Amino acid sequence: MTNTNPFRPGSGISPPYFAGRNREIDIFRKKLDKSMNDDFIQHMAIVSGWGSGKTSLLLKFKEIARGINCPVLPVQLYSVMDTKDFVELFVNSASFVVPPSKWKKFSSAVSSLGINVMGTGVQVVKQASFFEPQTAFCHSLKNIWNNSHTQLIPVMIDDIQLITKKEQTLEILRNVFTWAANEGYKFMLVVSGTLDLFERFQEAHSPLTRFFEPLILNPLSSDEIRDAVLKPLENTSISFSDDVVEQIITLSEGNPSYIQLLASHAFEHARNNIVNLDDFKLSLISAINDVSARMFDNMFNKLCMNEKNVLRILYESEVPMRWGEVLEMAENSGIKRASARTSLKRLIDNELLKSVKPQKYEKQYTLRDVLFKEYLSAKLDKVSKVSKV
Ligand SMILES: Nc1ncnc2c1ncn2[C@@H]1O[C@H](COP(=O)(O)OP(=O)(O)OP(=O)(O)O)[C@@H](O)[C@H]1O
Ligand SMILES: [Mg+2]
Repeated sequence: MTNTNPFRPGSGISPPYFAGRNREIDIFRKKLDKSMNDDFIQHMAIVSGWGSGKTSLLLKFKEIARGINCPVLPVQLYSVMDTKDFVELFVNSASFVVPPSKWKKFSSAVSSLGINVMGTGVQVVKQASFFEPQTAFCHSLKNIWNNSHTQLIPVMIDDIQLITKKEQTLEILRNVFTWAANEGYKFMLVVSGTLDLFERFQEAHSPLTRFFEPLILNPLSSDEIRDAVLKPLENTSISFSDDVVEQIITLSEGNPSYIQLLASHAFEHARNNIVNLDDFKLSLISAINDVSARMFDNMFNKLCMNEKNVLRILYESEVPMRWGEVLEMAENSGIKRASARTSLKRLIDNELLKSVKPQKYEKQYTLRDVLFKEYLSAKLDKVSKVSKV
């Protein structure tokens, strides 16, 4: 028994207890099995919003693959990368699957393609005419495959939306990995990205949709949230009352990041080894301060006055609103229609608003989540309303 807080709020940190995601794990296992034992490689894309557990799920997939002796090639992206940088990063990540004894041979082969490989001491000067990403990528895959002795190489790329020229890079990934599969080089792509990536797949690039087979991560169910909260407490001497757990279910809306945040702050407010509703209410203040400092303040402070006023319209509405309804209310409050449209679009693009689509009805918009609404209740009071014309 310990009183150390088991919860892990933050990003990219494996949870103390991995709840749910059975459907996704099942699909991954089947695709992995089929790709290993068949010539038909099946790729996968996990798409979902902020803090929904993409990174943790990829880590889980990695564990599963390793469990059946299938080493993974993970590619850790950083923002603002073009295709050239991406290919270079990919090749350098190959050290996870190319054994050290083969690395020298491998790196000299790929260096001749104009790719800088770390640790070789050879700095390759890339000339635009010399380095053609798609060709260099194909040759690199061939070299990675020939130097690693495994049945299949799952490639895991988290946060693929970070690539600036993502459409182009995704298209290259599709071409290159299709070519590789036809040559018998078995790479299985598993990528994660934000929801807008999926929308773009759907609308403009249906071949990409067919290739990546995107899967949307749903919020965790009430039972899964309960597990995520109660299982980690089993090794501690702290317990949460039932109504506290219910509050976490309601306020987190199944977002794993919020579950960890709320449970972690609640844990810190235990009195006599139990957290009751009053303790939880106090802990909620510190939880909201925490998430504000991590995220909300940054989002809110970037907004211009028109955006704040459009946000207020959605904040004050009890129900989700259609695009046209928001614009009409914005106009009535003195915002020009064109500005209202731009503001609404920016709020959606920056994930301050989310869309909901009741069956057969037009898309509607609402605030991103309950905790953000709590945050706005303090913030928007300080923003003066645009006067009515
Ligand atoms: N299945 C799960 N059960 C319980 N907690 C989870 C689960 N998945 C993720 N978490 C927790 O939720 C938080 C966010 O997870 P993670 O970083 O994987 O999400 P993400 O979608 O990659 O976030 P980001 O949008 O910041 O990249 C972490 O604290 C993690 O431990
Ligand atoms: Mg992540």
